[in-house]
Formats: sequence, structure tokens, C-alpha cells
Amino acid sequence: MRRFLVAGNWKMNTDRASGSALAGALAENSPSEEAGVEVLVCPPFTGLESVGRAIDGSAVQLGAQDVYFEPGGAFTGEISVEMLTDAGCGYVIIGHSERRNVLGEDDEVANRKVKAALAGGLKVVLCVGELLSQREAGNTEWVLDLQMAGSLADISEDDAKNIVIAYEPVWAIGTGVTATTEQAESAHLHLRNWVSGHYNSEFADQLRILYGGSVKPDNAEALMSQPNVDGALVGGASLKPDLFIPIIDAARSLANG
Ligand code: PGA
Repeated sequence: MRRFLVAGNWKMNTDRASGSALAGALAENSPSEEAGVEVLVCPPFTGLESVGRAIDGSAVQLGAQDVYFEPGGAFTGEISVEMLTDAGCGYVIIGHSERRNVLGEDDEVANRKVKAALAGGLKVVLCVGELLSQREAGNTEWVLDLQMAGSLADISEDDAKNIVIAYEPVWAIGTGVTATTEQAESAHLHLRNWVSGHYNSEFADQLRILYGGSVKPDNAEALMSQPNVDGALVGGASLKPDLFIPIIDAARSLANG
């Protein structure tokens, strides 16, 4: 049985005070480890320390939204894996569509980041997903295959055990348009089959694949009840406890149901 992961991607939102308040509410809601559900928050870099303090002693995990692949040196503006682990992070999001499409990152960059993060002991939430034009052209699966092959190039099964995939159709991110449960399940199944072919079926069975893109309290349960959907990567709705906690609760009721 795969454990659900409900992850909040705060993007470029929150300051130290609002981030700590939000994290504190989540910590109160997740005081101790649960067998069926893991909760993760990914604040901006400037909030890692204060959010880390707010969730200290609770079951909420800390992650970052990006990382650079070089270990240190003259890379103005970048943050290394070691800086993130030093700040208390256990996870890092890599290859988010906003990194790919706004900041121009490609699969090769994502691959270097994934390798550096895994080598430094971070778990990775690797994002993949197609643009609307790619879906409309019937190229969704082809795009996903390219992103998976590029981002996971030369990564062993042993290392890949610390990876979670997030399927995030770009047209569903921040738009209020959610993939239908059928669209999500079909993409997730495709991704799992890719992993099975590239690694093996036992590993594919264990790998968690999250859905992301306008996840809200009213669609979370239907999405996460799909056989190949193992949790959610939540943007907008992760910024409010009264929206994010019901999404965690949906995972809880499915896990315990
Ligand atoms: P959204 O963002 O929930 O606001 O659509 C999801 C994401 O980008 O991870």
C-alpha cells in the first residue's frame, strides 16, 4: 500500500509571519506520524527556517521549491543541496512547470538537479506535465515520456526510491480547471507503466505519483481515490488551512477507509 503524500507548494507567497502561522496550523493538525498520510510544506527559501521552527516536533515535513545542482561557489542567487539540508529540508520540488516554462529550465537541468539532490540526501518531488497545446495535439503521453526519460536519465533504481513523481498538467495549474479523474488516472497509469518499463514493475508499484493542478477540497477525494493517484501537490489551496486541511483529511479518509 502506497502512503499518500499531500504537499503544499507555496510558490512565491507568504512572509515569515504568515508562513509561520500557516505552518503552525498544519502542525497542530498533524501532531504525529500517520501510517497512511504524509504532509509536506514547501515555503519560499526565506521562510524555511521560520516554518521549520513552526512545524518542529510535528509530523509535517519541510521541503524547498527548487535547488541548484552545483555544491557551492560563484552561482549568484542559487541555493545548494547542502544549504537546504542544513535548513532542515527533507524534500525538494524539481522541474515544476513554472521553472520549466517561466524560467526556461529543461529536462537536462532537472536531471542534474535530481541527481544532486538525491546524492545529498534529499527526497525529490519531480514534476512533469503537458501544455494545453500538447494535449490538444494528442501528444500528452509522448511529452510525459520525454520528460521522464530526460529528467531521470542515469538514475538507478536505488536512488529513484527517494523520488516522488508529480503529474501536473500545465493547463490545470492555477487555472481552476482540474483534470477529470479519468484524465488524471490515465496519465498516472501511463507514468507508472513508463516506470515499470524503465525500471521494473515492483518498483513502479511502490513509486508514489501525485496529482497537481487546481486541487481543492471539493475535488481532492475523487482525484486521490483513483488507483494510481497517491496524493496531491497543491498550490493555491495550500495557502489556507481551511482549504489545505480538508485535502489532507480526504487523504486520511481514503487511507483509513
Ligand atoms: P495550483 O498549483 O494548485 O494552484 O493549481 C499546483 C502547483 O503548481 O503545484
